[in-house]
Amino acid sequence: MNVIVVGSGIAGLVAALHTAEAGHTVTLLTKGALGGGSTPLAQGGVAGIYGSGDSPEAHAADTLSAGAGLSDPSAVNVLVSEGAERIAELIARGVAFDRAPDGTLLLGREAAHSHARIVHAGGDATGAAISSALIAQLSSCPIHVIEHAFLADLIVDDDELTGKRAVRGVRMLCGEASVDLEADAVILATGGAGQLFAHTTNPLGVTGDGIAAAMRAGVAVTDLEFMQFHPTVLAAGAAFLISEAVRGEGATLLNDEGRRFAFDSHPDGELAPRDVVSRAIARQAAAQGRPVLLDATMLGASRLAERFPTIDRVTRERGFDWAREPIPVTPAAHYLMGGIITDLDGRTSIPGLFAVGEVARTGVHGANRLASNSLLEGAVFAARAAAAVTSPFESRKLLHPRGEWHNLRDSKVPHDRSGLQQLMWDNVGLLRTEGGLVEALDSIRSWAAAPAPIATPRTRAEHEDASLLQLAEAMASAALARAESVGAHHIAHEPALIGA
Ligand code: SIN
Repeated sequence: MNVIVVGSGIAGLVAALHTAEAGHTVTLLTKGALGGGSTPLAQGGVAGIYGSGDSPEAHAADTLSAGAGLSDPSAVNVLVSEGAERIAELIARGVAFDRAPDGTLLLGREAAHSHARIVHAGGDATGAAISSALIAQLSSCPIHVIEHAFLADLIVDDDELTGKRAVRGVRMLCGEASVDLEADAVILATGGAGQLFAHTTNPLGVTGDGIAAAMRAGVAVTDLEFMQFHPTVLAAGAAFLISEAVRGEGATLLNDEGRRFAFDSHPDGELAPRDVVSRAIARQAAAQGRPVLLDATMLGASRLAERFPTIDRVTRERGFDWAREPIPVTPAAHYLMGGIITDLDGRTSIPGLFAVGEVARTGVHGANRLASNSLLEGAVFAARAAAAVTSPFESRKLLHPRGEWHNLRDSKVPHDRSGLQQLMWDNVGLLRTEGGLVEALDSIRSWAAAPAPIATPRTRAEHEDASLLQLAEAMASAALARAESVGAHHIAHEPALIGA
């Protein structure tokens, strides 16, 4: 078969390698250069190695609990049952996870995990280690890699044999040239949409292109209201993640008076689920009019430098000595739990189209993702999708999406991007109000309807802007359609007091 994989994070790389190793012809498209995107920035690690007293069942229970009742238990079961095998595969492919002197894997702990079960590499450079090891493997397979290939659209038409709609390939932009590539199957691994928000841990290229293209092709998506905000990015300069593993090692969150305020919101304090900690931080920062502090001084200079070398370097570059003083932190948009609905093998609602990684909504994360489950999910479900490409039509019944949205892609290219990002941060962010969501939708729809200089996207930036606007509308609509607060979707009854 001729298979196109779009995206070169952990999910795209694992999907491409498995598909090629199964004897298929694989073309891997990536938006930038290999080694870009979100995966190389992942710090914390990969959950899924179980020490004494821990088990896949305990990991499943923690995942379901973080998901706030909206995870699919069968997807979670797949994740925890196959995770160890995928971690072993990563090791076999050259990922040097950190080990104790006796050779055993070092296991970290992060929020809402009942046990230390997270493998990491280079201390806090796990994603970079995974990305470079998997990229190195590409050369041992006949995989055709096309860098700087931007996914403009999916090509979907009627299948000659069944008369059903099926994916036929992709339309990509190379520079400003539009090129159609045909395939028997397409595996989307294009990541999330953090650039919808003014403050995000995601790199600039994470603009939701894959989800938006799928929606335009009529593929079912859901749970777009569930955007996870990471509790701690450095509140100085461009958003830089301070891994949850830092709190897992014992760092505490302090308010202006030096008090550990996280326990006001949850008995697990700093290690409560991410959504709870993020909201606690946002409220505290709004109340005191300045960022809260993360105190890691108790870990000591040598431990911080050894366990978190990247964070140690960047915080020092920005003028902080975190071994001696607490550092200011703030939440930022981090991970989209919703996305393209898939079955347990990555199949979407359109035959021949698969989705894996953050672009997919497998059902693992529900309303709130457990820390360090995303690299694991990417690897587990990418391997399953690669095995399923030869049977694209056997999809189990897929769920119907919630909320309503319109296809804004053919409307005008709007606004400036930063205006949309600020609107989303203010109105569709951590603490939402019904009024704020209505206001956001009004603005988004008026931008979409307004006359604009460019009617049809042509350049990559124009495509990105159109996709971001389309996703903003979908996210705000989905949030408005869910009246009750659950997980990362929180409807506040007071005005959302979140500053930039
Ligand atoms: C972190 O290191 O805190 C991020 C890990 C994740 O998002 O799962």
